[in-house]
Amino acid sequence: MKGSVMSVLVVLALVAQDRVACGLEDKSYDYTKYHTMDEISAWMSQMERENPDVASSMIYGRTYENRNITLLKIGFTSATPKKAVWMDCGIHAREWIAPAFCQHFVKEILGSYQTDPKVNMLFKNLDFYITPVLNMDGYIYSWKDNTTRLWRKSRSPGTGNCTCFGTDLNRNFYANWGMVGISRNCCSEIYNGPTPLSETEAQAVTDFLGAHQNQLLCYLTIHSYGQLILVPYGHPNISAPNYNELMEVGLAAANAIKAVHGKSYKVGTSPDVLYANSGSSRDFARLIGIPYSFTFELRDEGDYGFLLPEDQIQPTCEEAYQGAMSIINYIHDKNFRGSAITVTATLWTTLVASWISSANVF
Ligand SMILES: *[C@@H]1O[C@H](CO)[C@@H](O)[C@H](O)[C@H]1NC(C)=O
Ligand SMILES: *[C@@H]1O[C@H](CO)[C@@H](O)[C@H](O)[C@H]1NC(C)=O
Ligand SMILES: *[C@@H]1O[C@H](CO)[C@@H](O)[C@H](O)[C@H]1NC(C)=O
Ligand SMILES: *[C@@H]1O[C@H](CO)[C@@H](O)[C@H](O)[C@H]1NC(C)=O
Ligand SMILES: [Zn+2]
Repeated sequence: MKGSVMSVLVVLALVAQDRVACGLEDKSYDYTKYHTMDEISAWMSQMERENPDVASSMIYGRTYENRNITLLKIGFTSATPKKAVWMDCGIHAREWIAPAFCQHFVKEILGSYQTDPKVNMLFKNLDFYITPVLNMDGYIYSWKDNTTRLWRKSRSPGTGNCTCFGTDLNRNFYANWGMVGISRNCCSEIYNGPTPLSETEAQAVTDFLGAHQNQLLCYLTIHSYGQLILVPYGHPNISAPNYNELMEVGLAAANAIKAVHGKSYKVGTSPDVLYANSGSSRDFARLIGIPYSFTFELRDEGDYGFLLPEDQIQPTCEEAYQGAMSIINYIHDKNFRGSAITVTATLWTTLVASWISSANVF
């Protein structure tokens, strides 16, 4: 009797250990809470450690306060350069649901690529470059106390006679910089900075995108709030050459989102559904030739705004995951339709998936 209880416990312990090792399940990190920058950095190292075959980290710049801006690169390794998808979260400090979404997204793809043939194929054909918190200085400041919770901008000091801190990083990119929807007053929430790319964080993204321009098929930048999917451009008088396709892909993503918890997301250019702006990272990505560029504005529509309660993290991330995957699958299928690589990946995936499912029966 005692012996059999013991062996059951040993088997359970081994199974639990194995699942953590495979990154299938991780009970130690709570994805339904907001996390500090230190916790998110430790989580990034943990993801890397637990998934050494498919996840690695890369430092691609410094913040104003000299922190390392780090992304997770996720996908099967390949001897030849792969096409890629970019996702950044937390360019605006107070939009805490955005970093929570990047973490949820990483958890989902790492937890499913071994069993879900579709995600497995994405890992084969694409690399994901995911920055959970781009504006690290601002994010840390927004955690300081309840007077700084609604901080939005970077933390660089004003220049000249202006003594306020911070530039709106999403007005600082070299994309119609300074033309519309900005302020020249450094105390404003939408101050676009003294010059284009004055902010090291915007410069870091610009350098990375430039260096991977031919690989990147898709640029996703995650914000809150408003329940919107925005397509280029923020300037009302300029239209993206593939505007119609961007709208179709965006509307399909909004449908995928609605199917999860019934939430409605509007789709359009920023001037059409929100307000005109310039110097955004989304517009910059499209301008340098990354064909599919979208901004997600997650929940809600203003009831809680930036202070979205923690009990909405999980449903918000679940629906947004389906929205993002709708876009990524569309782009993947369009680029890899019928290729030999895809066929091989499918066969291989089926074999591995059947092996995993038989190994997991208990
Ligand atoms: C940033 O990364 C460099 C290179 O890995 C490392 O030497 C340095 O200590 C890091 N700085 C911080 C603040 O973490
Ligand atoms: C901020 O925190 C202080 C001290 O904990 C508290 O007294 C105050 O009500 C809080 N203010 C807001 C706006 O939450
Ligand atoms: C800065 O302030 C000084 C003194 O008030 C003033 O003379 C100068 O014109 C100001 N410079 C700018 C750029 O506003
Ligand atoms: C867009 O074009 C119209 C008509 O030419 C012009 O009046 C308006 O100022 C332009 N908008 C911007 C932001 O440049
Ligand atoms: Zn934002």
